[in-house]
Amino acid sequence: MAACLKRWVGDSIYGFDLGCGDGELIYQLGLLLPESKWEGVEISDYRVSIQQRDVCIWQGDMLAETYRDYNVLHADNLCLDEMVADRLEAKIALEFKGLYITYRRPENMDFLKRAIYLDTVLTETTWTTHPIHFYYLN
Ligand SMILES: C[S@@+](CC[C@H](N)C(=O)[O-])C[C@H]1O[C@@H](n2cnc3c(N)ncnc32)[C@H](O)[C@@H]1O
Repeated sequence: MAACLKRWVGDSIYGFDLGCGDGELIYQLGLLLPESKWEGVEISDYRVSIQQRDVCIWQGDMLAETYRDYNVLHADNLCLDEMVADRLEAKIALEFKGLYITYRRPENMDFLKRAIYLDTVLTETTWTTHPIHFYYLN
């Protein structure tokens, strides 16, 4: 798995979780991908305050961040209103190139129809253990 991902993004994995909750997912991704570096932004003060893992997360709005520095992105916010979801999708399509990690399938997101599907891994998240899919966006 790690070898397959490194083939797509190189040795230095620098990932960003948009809406990271308490940071559990990026902690687990760090275990899954040794030597990778992860950060997360979360809009809820409360969720940031219940952080238990030693990960770099902060309170903020994902739409106010830049995604250009990262080569791995995770964004899954199933409850976003349509306007915010559209802005997020447009921002990712405009700013980001690299590995994209999501619970979603291309039928839910137009820009994923152009992505290369790589793999699916069962992963512990803030909420539950869930299959997440890995894609490459170029
Ligand atoms: C489904 S949870 C995902 C948590 C974590 N990424 C995971 O997969 O385990 C979505 C999170 O996105 C946060 N969120 C929603 N809108 C946001 C925004 N505009 N900026 C940052 N976080 C946001 C929510 O508060 C929630 O904690």
